[in-house]
Amino acid sequence: MNVLSILDLSKKDIEEILDLAMEMKRGNEKRKFLNDKNVAMIFEKQSTRTRVSFEVAMRQLGGYAIYLNKNDLQLGRGESIQDTAKVLSRYVDGIIVRTFEHETVEEMAKYSSVPVINALTNLEHPCQSLADLFTIKEFKGDLKGLKLVWIGDVNNVCNSLILISSLFGINISIGSPRDYGPSRYILDKLDGHIKYYNDPYKAAEDADIIYTDVWVSMGNEDEKDKREIDFKEFQVNQKLLSHAKKDAIVMHCLPAIRGKEITSDVMDGKNSVIFDQAENRLHTQKALLAKVIR
Ligand code: CP
Ligand code: NVA
Repeated sequence: MNVLSILDLSKKDIEEILDLAMEMKRGNEKRKFLNDKNVAMIFEKQSTRTRVSFEVAMRQLGGYAIYLNKNDLQLGRGESIQDTAKVLSRYVDGIIVRTFEHETVEEMAKYSSVPVINALTNLEHPCQSLADLFTIKEFKGDLKGLKLVWIGDVNNVCNSLILISSLFGINISIGSPRDYGPSRYILDKLDGHIKYYNDPYKAAEDADIIYTDVWVSMGNEDEKDKREIDFKEFQVNQKLLSHAKKDAIVMHCLPAIRGKEITSDVMDGKNSVIFDQAENRLHTQKALLAKVIR
């Protein structure tokens, strides 16, 4: 099974992964599901959480992860994705890939005979969304009917989050500047299920969950100056938070640029679950690996 989009997992798959992750987090499940298994991790972009949590996860499951910066591979000198996938499939039991173009992970999966897991592309970040849903469940219990508000750039993290949330009956509102709203990729899948506002305060009204991410994702650096102007009003700060429910949780996938998309007082404040969310990357990816790698 490949996990290129969060929609490659069914609702039942996700429920099983989250249940297993919870047992792992509680320390009740310590089996070495991946004894002597190996995965290759090809990264075209930087990473702190994804890289470290996958490496630790593999080790805790009894296996091993080989980190490969794209430029250290012949792939960086022009060897094809096809040949790379075919060769790696002869050595390892899974391939974890972080790339710019989503088509790169699709191509890798097409030629790989072992499972391929998307560790972030420009289009989706499915591993993040598993940890996000787990965290929401941990802090809010029942998922159905919750109001999730995304503030800022409708990006890869947002796409996977919206898709997983809609599977579980969470209502989604987006507050983002015109020109940075949901793409056809999302609208075609979920038309009618998203409320979209250009006013962040209207979007945030009565929110159970406020979620934001950087204004400048990896690959958007050329637009940094323009984006910082366009997103100026879309900061998660105390004023914005005052529009949400009193017990709303604040989430961010990290890395954050403190003082830009989120203020430090909110990030470190009582509504923030951001560092629990980061921890949950480890538990949910352990469960995902246990399910996907054979
Ligand atoms: N949230 C996330 O994927 O972080 P990294 O870029 O550090 O892996
Ligand atoms: N949207 C951000 C998320 C990083 C984890 C990016 O793609 O850079």
